[in-house]
Amino acid sequence: MKAELTKPETSLIIYWSKTGNTQKVAYAMKQGLEEINTHVTVKKPEEAENLDYFDYDLVCVGCPSHSWHPPEQMTAYLKKKFNYYRENGKIRLGAPKVAGKNAIVFVTYSGPHTGIAEATPVGKDIAQYFDHIGFNVAAEWYVLSEFHGSKEANREGRLGDLRGKPNAEQLQGIKDSLKQLFTM
Ligand SMILES: Cc1cc2nc3c(=O)[nH]c(=O)nc-3n(C[C@H](O)[C@H](O)[C@H](O)COP(=O)(O)O)c2cc1C
Repeated sequence: MKAELTKPETSLIIYWSKTGNTQKVAYAMKQGLEEINTHVTVKKPEEAENLDYFDYDLVCVGCPSHSWHPPEQMTAYLKKKFNYYRENGKIRLGAPKVAGKNAIVFVTYSGPHTGIAEATPVGKDIAQYFDHIGFNVAAEWYVLSEFHGSKEANREGRLGDLRGKPNAEQLQGIKDSLKQLFTM
């Protein structure tokens, strides 16, 4: 059985998006968190360098899959934060959990060649940054999304016709999942 999660009072959403899909998911998450009366701050990585994750109960980080890795900009940002926390004694052997601190990782992807396997390495990579500072990774979400600018990948890839994704139903599913995580 999963441990119950305390509803966050304050949340930080950090996202990087090249063609808009991840941004849609980030703002659906913002709405979902506001619907459970959480105060939400949304930032892009370049705006979030001086924000301290430990000032928030929940930190959500999202980006697309680029060649089954996080985009370079996201990796550069996460590494910078990691080095800061290491210098400040927050990276401890055994990675003990810090009470009340949760993270959610979200990845948008199109999976034209091998499906969701092109996205899971991205989520696992980002999750490790939070595991290492003692945050509980409450969820990793992989959101199938349109491949803008590539007609073939968008219609004939392994996961079929992706036009219009993430659609209203997917975005509603994200809001519902947030409510389930924190209010059940
Ligand atoms: C340069 C580039 C590389 C991509 N590589 C992959 C990939 O390896 N696997 C995948 O599933 N999708 C890949 N995609 C598709 C994106 O991950 C997907 O469309 C994502 O939702 C885009 O998010 P964004 O609109 O927030 O930028 C790639 C897209 C771009 C632009």
